[in-house]
Amino acid sequence: MTTDNHSKEIAPLSDPGIPEHVHRRTDTDPKAAKKAERQVAILFSISAIGTILFVYSYTFMSGDIFVFLPVMGSTNAKQLFLGLGMAISLFFIGLGAVHWAKMLMPDNEIIAHRHEFRSEESDREDFVKTVKAGAEAAGLGRRSLIKRSLGAALGLVGLTPLLLLRDLGPLPKDDFTKTSWKAGTRLVTDPGNRPIKPSDLEVGAVAQVLPELQPGELRKLENIGKDAVLLIRIRPEEFQLDAERLSWTHEGIIAFSKICSHMGCAVALYEQQTKHLLCPCHQSTFDVTRAAKVIFGPSARPLPQLALMIDADGYLVAKQPFTEPVGPSFWERDSA
Ligand code: FES
Repeated sequence: MTTDNHSKEIAPLSDPGIPEHVHRRTDTDPKAAKKAERQVAILFSISAIGTILFVYSYTFMSGDIFVFLPVMGSTNAKQLFLGLGMAISLFFIGLGAVHWAKMLMPDNEIIAHRHEFRSEESDREDFVKTVKAGAEAAGLGRRSLIKRSLGAALGLVGLTPLLLLRDLGPLPKDDFTKTSWKAGTRLVTDPGNRPIKPSDLEVGAVAQVLPELQPGELRKLENIGKDAVLLIRIRPEEFQLDAERLSWTHEGIIAFSKICSHMGCAVALYEQQTKHLLCPCHQSTFDVTRAAKVIFGPSARPLPQLALMIDADGYLVAKQPFTEPVGPSFWERDSA
């Protein structure tokens, strides 16, 4: 079987050019033009009637008259005619203008060729000469004192907007990297503010906790956003942790920041069977048995783990502050 390649070649399209200009009847027939003129005048006149209706309804109609309309039911006549008058006046003025443009306004086809935006070489040279002559006349070259003081003044003026940055509020200092957790801070239930003993949590249980407040201290909203911690209890033999991280747990109880390390949502779902924590926002999934290692989703790092121990009264407390910033990864500088 032979293939005829030539028959498959596509013939290049020729430039169709601009279609021949077709004159409108109103361009060639004075009677048609006169008729179009009358049509436009009628449309504008209907618009004028609409305006008169609007003014009349506004000025003379009582607001107490109601008329019955099939779909709308009982309708205030004044409001109805105000609306109708305005609609007629605007609609027909637009229609008249469009009809006028299509039938009677000049119908010449004009080709505007593109041109270069760059100025002529001679204009550019003239401009440079004018600037130089102006600088010369102002004595900028000769009067170096003025030149330097002007430079300093302009530079300082440029610095002033930087001062306005102070108005954005106090500097955040270490607010982004530190939480309220300190060594010895008790974990309290949220809600409830009750200290927790290990025996309060059964295996498989999960609880949200916050740092205990000092007497007279108030809980600030921005701190809750950083301090929220999830407390989870599993069987100790299920942990797959290195010695240090294992020492941060207590009798199978492990604590993680509740703030997702992807974009800061609350990691609020715990699957008891698989021991997975799930962030509902973008489905990042963290393995509780492996120090909240990311096993699925967009998050780039594990949830920070809070080291736990018990105090002299048997309550769960933080062994130390978080060792890394909580929340989205972009605040975090040192760890991978
Ligand atoms: S904020 Fe948690 S996965 Fe995006």
